[in-house]
Amino acid sequence: MHIPDIIIAIDGYSSTGKSSFARLIASEFSFLYLDSGAMYRGITLMAIENGFFDAGGNADTGRLSAALQSLDLHFSNTPDGSKTFIGDRCIEKEIRTMEVSAKVSPISAIPCVREFVDMRLREFGKRKRVVMDGRDIGTTVFPDAELKIFMTADLAVRARRRAAEMASRGETVSLETVVENLRERDYIDSHRETSPLTKAADALVLDNSRMTLQDQMVWIRGIIRERFGNVSD
Ligand code: DC
Repeated sequence: MHIPDIIIAIDGYSSTGKSSFARLIASEFSFLYLDSGAMYRGITLMAIENGFFDAGGNADTGRLSAALQSLDLHFSNTPDGSKTFIGDRCIEKEIRTMEVSAKVSPISAIPCVREFVDMRLREFGKRKRVVMDGRDIGTTVFPDAELKIFMTADLAVRARRRAAEMASRGETVSLETVVENLRERDYIDSHRETSPLTKAADALVLDNSRMTLQDQMVWIRGIIRERFGNVSD
């Protein structure tokens, strides 16, 4: 299906399957996929590795802000698809650990961190034909995105998906730990002062608790036909 040059913004709670859905949309419509959460995770990894957290788990905002000035955090194409890098080091695996997941929400609530990420994400949007997932893509990063989707799913379903994904990478965590992490991140992400997670007024809600990825593709094809009319197959 060939669709016009638009930006598709996908926001929603943690582990609602935003990135799997966005990746499939990108491959079906030949769009560029960007995982904005990976940038926040990359900054969190850098903060952990540089010892910016104190014993209470609070980050030193001054040192973090200074480190961002020279941080070369980017996406690069590899034979296995687009991956997140710091300099020439691929950090894709390290940014998905429970340790990073536990610290990423407070880091992403820091205004200088959000400015750093927003500036980079907006660069990609200039070319359109981009599908981006995150928490504030339709509200802050691309408020004019032509198609906005807000994803949600039952907490238990999300926890099972996240635990399975972690197990497939060899990290075993209890379901209770995952539920606790999701609950905490949902709370911090929705209550922070800068760009909290919230549904844009013009976003369409997609609750995929009982939907497969294929069901979701059928749903979005229908929306695109309805919105953009005569798209060719
Ligand atoms: O999508 P994810 O779970 O990988 O995102 C990790 C964290 O990054 C999430 O808990 C909140 C933050 N985030 C954000 O604040 N804004 C975005 N656009 C994307 C992610």
